Amino acid sequence: MAIDLRSDTVTKPSQGMRDAIASAAVGDDVYGDDPTVNSLEERVAAMFGMEAGLFSPTGSLANQLLIRTLVKPGEELLTDVRAHIVRAELGAGAAFSGITTRTWDSDGGLLNADAPLAMAHENAGPYLVSTTAIAVENTHNFGGGTVQPIGEISRLSTAARERGIAMHLDGARIWNAHVASGTPFAEFGKHFDTISVCLSKGLGAPVGSISLSSKARIAEARIWRKRYGAGMRQIGLLAAAGHYALDHNIERLAEDHARAKKMALALAAHDASLIDPTKVETNIVGLELSKSGISAADFAARCRENGLWISALGKSYASLVAHLDFDDAQCDEAIAIMLKVLN
Ligand SMILES: Cc1ncc(COP(=O)(O)O)c(C=O)c1O
Repeated sequence: MAIDLRSDTVTKPSQGMRDAIASAAVGDDVYGDDPTVNSLEERVAAMFGMEAGLFSPTGSLANQLLIRTLVKPGEELLTDVRAHIVRAELGAGAAFSGITTRTWDSDGGLLNADAPLAMAHENAGPYLVSTTAIAVENTHNFGGGTVQPIGEISRLSTAARERGIAMHLDGARIWNAHVASGTPFAEFGKHFDTISVCLSKGLGAPVGSISLSSKARIAEARIWRKRYGAGMRQIGLLAAAGHYALDHNIERLAEDHARAKKMALALAAHDASLIDPTKVETNIVGLELSKSGISAADFAARCRENGLWISALGKSYASLVAHLDFDDAQCDEAIAIMLKVLN
């Protein structure tokens, strides 16, 4: 069996999760009648100290439903140059909501509040585009699972809000940030107007994200979710998987972080130009192959021939993502395969 480290989305629901799905109480969610989805939305909102939550099938939809409540057509959202919102949602903010974006560069996705604050131009008048929101990704996927320092988030949020600029958090992997940093979920909630979280990444649910915000914004997002065709019916089946994921799979993320660190240390010991293992804080290992004489595509292809699936995300950038279907023995095997390919 191949070892699949392309993403933490490749996990299969455990038997316990399947049992929870099978016994879920359900109702028609378009009528607001599904008790399991209602309790999941309330539960996640309470965890983050937000007023309300909304279930959506994907993290992309959760992000898009939220940012359109903050940014009107023709206005601007600022975000990191490698953020999922600008790199991997296929221009949805522009295509559906008329949102323009500008990006700031960073070292591995690590937030430096000065970058967006210097670029932001609120109330720009009739000539320039007005900045109305800033999006932060935590952890930062294409940055290599980077945990954003809460002090920097707070500095950015305070300064942005003083200038009337709203704050959005793409928290697809906020669970990993919480486990790695110890920052309470409610602390994240204080600094953002809108938050998206995913249950289908490290937490192992087959589907499901929650949009979080004020009651008014979530009511607006609910209308747009239906307008986009994602009003769903007996989704308590999916929400039950989400409850199970929150009950069982948050604290164990530390195991994924330890395996990612082990892979990073082994690769750096072989070739220090590949990765700085001190920067691997969560479950993602981003490899820079430019000095190793092999392209990311060739490295991924050679690993695949040897039974290890990884992602080539740029000409010389590859990523490996540890997850709950990846154990210690597979970790040792993955390291051995990569060292063999690199030798
Ligand atoms: C940081 C981040 N945000 C959002 C998403 C979107 O999630 P989905 O694939 O469920 O649309 C992803 C997906 O991997 C992600 O990594």
